Amino acid sequence: MDKFTIDGNRRLTGQVGISGSKNAALPIMAAVLASDGPLHLSGVPDLVDVHSLLSLLETLGVDSQYGDDGQLRLLVQTRQPHVAHYDLVRRMRASICVLGPLLARRGRARVSLPGGCNIGHRPIDLHLKGLAALGADIRVEQGYVIATAERLCGASIFLGGPCGSTVTGTCNLMSAATLAEGRTVIEAAACEPEVVDLGECLRKMGAHIDGLGTPRIEIEGVSQLGGATHRVIPDRIEAATLMIAAAITGGHVEIAPIRPDHLVAVREVLEQTGVRIETSTGCDSLASLVTTAPPVLAPTTLTALPYPGIPTDVQAQLMALLSRADGISVITDKVFPDRFLHAAELGRLGARIVREGPTAVIHGVPRLSGANVMASDLRASAALVLAGLAAEGTTTVRRIYHLDRGYERLDTKLNQLGGQVIRSEDKPVATPPHWATPASHLAIDG
Ligand code: EPU
Repeated sequence: MDKFTIDGNRRLTGQVGISGSKNAALPIMAAVLASDGPLHLSGVPDLVDVHSLLSLLETLGVDSQYGDDGQLRLLVQTRQPHVAHYDLVRRMRASICVLGPLLARRGRARVSLPGGCNIGHRPIDLHLKGLAALGADIRVEQGYVIATAERLCGASIFLGGPCGSTVTGTCNLMSAATLAEGRTVIEAAACEPEVVDLGECLRKMGAHIDGLGTPRIEIEGVSQLGGATHRVIPDRIEAATLMIAAAITGGHVEIAPIRPDHLVAVREVLEQTGVRIETSTGCDSLASLVTTAPPVLAPTTLTALPYPGIPTDVQAQLMALLSRADGISVITDKVFPDRFLHAAELGRLGARIVREGPTAVIHGVPRLSGANVMASDLRASAALVLAGLAAEGTTTVRRIYHLDRGYERLDTKLNQLGGQVIRSEDKPVATPPHWATPASHLAIDG
């Protein structure tokens, strides 16, 4: 298990590349299960989560070839297997994305429930409700979802839940409905760019889908999906994390490629803190973006919401930033109201944060000071690394495996910008806090 040792208080400057989106790549990879042709993807990030899904797909009869440059070729070799085992599913919640395509193409699926998670309650009731509406017979037995359907039938499905829509739930339903008989309408669908990217790829495979990026997605089922070639969108969460890295270190950083339309809310909130952002457009709606930090960060109030709101996946990183602002900031997370484990760890670096339910009040401090901290989940790890970059002295961030699940070579990228982040093997910690140990029944976030 690795840790990062960060020599902080260094201004980040320069240019850095943005990888393909993890959360777009995973459901797209799973969609190969619905297809009869090869899927050629590019821009697939080299991440632990991607390799975990490849292992799972392999057990489901998918042959894969993954190149160093993010090229991935997937092809279904055998359609016999239909079981996604607990030992593979528990590594990553996004494994649930195999359920819809598996059921739609093979008529049956037995997929382990993903289990608990460090960022709060994460049920899959909406996924199951949607598949049942398409005519699947669904039972949960011995920790597995068992779904069968000779052929799914189009239906009208309302996918709104207590915290908004569901991103992977919309992906599951959309992939399944492409092979259903007749027309499916998903109301209260997730509008996230990752859902749109999956929809675009399914269209290339022959699916008939309208309304991508809106809360009403309409799908006219087809009898078969073919192969496709698709480039995964740039990772807007990695982009936002690196913009915040520039802002928190008083830096000046250019990132590319990005989709400016995917970063509107993040840009807005960063500008409220005094950060200057300039975009220059390139081709294929891709662009580069320069972030320049102000001498002093202004405080602000923000709420993490479904897209196009501020992403919950950037909430922790923004909390790290606002802990350096000159005044009091307020952050509320309406997507994952319990996603605040990073607040206490940021406190070890000197941040002053008080949590009240789904809200955290951050009293900005003029300086953070290096300390030993423990990562609890993917985005919390990123927040701790950002705070460590800005802190005076040395910060050690343990349990970096969380970070490796979702950021491609983050240490290398930060060092390229003038940071000093050293990766090394960690010795076992005597008594880790209970939440830092992924118990065997807990799935990891993502
Ligand atoms: N929810 C339900 N019932 C469901 C599904 C979700 O009540 O059946 C609730 C959740 O508890 C949550 C809200 O709905 O309060 C939104 O959850 P959603 O299903 O949208 O989350 P997800 O699809 O499991 C994806 C990302 C997460 C990201 C969320 C929200 C992937 C692989 N994961 O998760 O990414 O935080 O959407 O945008 O796409 C990360 O990358 O660090 C990460 C956690």
